[in-house]
Amino acid sequence: MLLQDKVITTAWSRADALKVKFDDPTTTQPIVDLKFPVMDETLFIWDTMPLKKLDGTIVSVNGWSVIFTLTATREPDVYKNKDGSYDITSDWNARHGRARICYWYAKDGQSWIYGGRVMAEGVSPTAREWAGTPVLINEEGDIELYYTCVSPGAAIAKVRGCITETSDGIKLSDFHSVTKLFSADGFYYQTEEQNIYWNFRDPSPFINPGDGKLYMVFEGNVAGERGTHRITSEDLGNLPPGYEEVGGARYQAGCIGLAVAKDEQGDSWQLLPPLITAVGVNDQTERPHFVFKDGKYYLFTISHQYTYADGLTGPDGVYGFVSDSLFGPYEPLNGSGLVLGNPSSQPFQTYSHCVMPNGLVTSFIDSVPAPEESEYDGDYRIGGTEAPTVQIKIEGNRTFVVKTYDYGFIPPMENIFIQ
Ligand code: FRU
Repeated sequence: MLLQDKVITTAWSRADALKVKFDDPTTTQPIVDLKFPVMDETLFIWDTMPLKKLDGTIVSVNGWSVIFTLTATREPDVYKNKDGSYDITSDWNARHGRARICYWYAKDGQSWIYGGRVMAEGVSPTAREWAGTPVLINEEGDIELYYTCVSPGAAIAKVRGCITETSDGIKLSDFHSVTKLFSADGFYYQTEEQNIYWNFRDPSPFINPGDGKLYMVFEGNVAGERGTHRITSEDLGNLPPGYEEVGGARYQAGCIGLAVAKDEQGDSWQLLPPLITAVGVNDQTERPHFVFKDGKYYLFTISHQYTYADGLTGPDGVYGFVSDSLFGPYEPLNGSGLVLGNPSSQPFQTYSHCVMPNGLVTSFIDSVPAPEESEYDGDYRIGGTEAPTVQIKIEGNRTFVVKTYDYGFIPPMENIFIQ
């Protein structure tokens, strides 16, 4: 059987999404304190990518934990309010356009030391370095960084380099040569020509425990011209009476894409049908990634309140689906899909959650409401730094928030010694 025929695409339905509820304590991220610490006052960091192996294990190298972050230099001289003070909000909102991938290391998995850029200026072929996954591919210290090259276009790419130990930390080097792997095909996955607001990014490669082959999941939209998607009975799901009206929901067509490597190195890839679609539900299913546990496939993805379709809503946060096979069908976790959302009192406190196989969930602080009498002026305090880590318990098709740890706590699950 051809691999593309094995995939049983699952529709995350409007009926599933109607079950998404704000402020259920078992699926809500605890409040982030307004007085959060900032990792580096000169930088914004957001999407965080812990170094891992292809089986998903979070690793340290010679005792050093390593994270990669989307990063931008804060520009107080460029972004100013009328009174001359720093307009941090405009600076923060503009960061995506100058995103660079940097790395940090720590002995204790939380006191992160800035290591600098992974690729020197000019190495990456497009203007923006967007999210992906750094993989330690052997015990010699070779790393492959899968990431997204954006503007112009959007391509899933890969760059190889290495990690070495220094007298007081680690160093990444030799990330010189970027290979573009693929872009959207217009058949399974929407292209820029089909929709100028298309999403195609965030590769997460993994070895499928079921067949030992190399695959990746990524963020996409279902192919087709913008506005032409039909919302099927599967997309609607088992709706209660009175919920048939979908407004402009045909404009939301998020999906979690799948590709399989055609060679052992993962230099050549074949696109497969999406694992999950959100047609008529949500336009963005970002940073998808797997956790393999108890023989099951847990597929997590982040999404926003503002990308939900008409008639639906839910918090910014991480959503998830579970299956007995890579190829599906999948079932939304907790009935709705919601795993860890922001509380309605602080709807944008965190984003870009990454669920690790040990149940720890890392994310970054976006903005926390700041009352006028607080020491932070404005309506809210911008983050651009690591959020407190949250532990969830995954039990069958349900998840529970069980604990909060320190800011940016990303401990290794295995230490690898390299020469
Ligand atoms: C999630 C995200 C990613 C993308 C990056 C761009 O926070 O939207 O999908 O790679 O941010 O900044």
